[in-house]
Amino acid sequence: MSPDDLKKQAAARALELVRPGMRLGLGTGSTAKHFVDLLGARVAAGLDVLCVATSEATQAQAMALAIPMSTLDQTPELDLTVDGADEVDPQLRLIKGGGAAHLREKIVAVASKRMVVIADDTKLVETLGRFPLPIEVVPFGLEATRRAVASAIAASGAAGEIKLRLRPDGSTLVTDGGHFILDAHLGRIEQPEALAAALNAVPGVVEHGLFLGIASCAILASSSGLKILGTIE
Ligand code: A5P
Repeated sequence: MSPDDLKKQAAARALELVRPGMRLGLGTGSTAKHFVDLLGARVAAGLDVLCVATSEATQAQAMALAIPMSTLDQTPELDLTVDGADEVDPQLRLIKGGGAAHLREKIVAVASKRMVVIADDTKLVETLGRFPLPIEVVPFGLEATRRAVASAIAASGAAGEIKLRLRPDGSTLVTDGGHFILDAHLGRIEQPEALAAALNAVPGVVEHGLFLGIASCAILASSSGLKILGTIE
């Protein structure tokens, strides 16, 4: 089974959690894209839901599928958000932001009663950090903020190179919110809570990709079946 088939299987299981009338947060990335496609088919068949997207890309996909869309201003409380992740640990702590959408993803997830993660099981790790941690920063004062981020990382006991994220053409990547991303290549994050707190204290850091205590369930697909972390219903 291909990685894409596994992502689709996880998305299909998450779709079973959707009930008529629910307000949903729609994630970003290749796995969440499957969920939105499957949801679009259900909506076309008559399912009544109202959704908020976590990125301009997901908004465009959902609107093309005629999924009823709202905003967190009009619909500030959601029932369920379904989103992918770059890493998941056994305690349901996540790294997100590989697609540069983690700011909106975190706002939407926290506005939801539940966040369910969908992924293939290669995303499951014992210790977070193999995937570079995305840190969204304001463009103003970039070098000063980068140094403050490096100090915060060191204070939390982690270490590694910090790289400004670029587009394939070499230009600086700009997020949907007009910010830049610093990717921290840490290898292992032994104390995610300490690192999150240290990064939260840096002026210029808009949001980092550590999602701690936010997800209540992860549906992880492998060729031998679905693995569920946390509580699914
Ligand atoms: C977007 O910024 C990310 O948080 C994605 O949710 C994450 O990168 C997972 O993407 P894939 O499903 O494409 O692996």
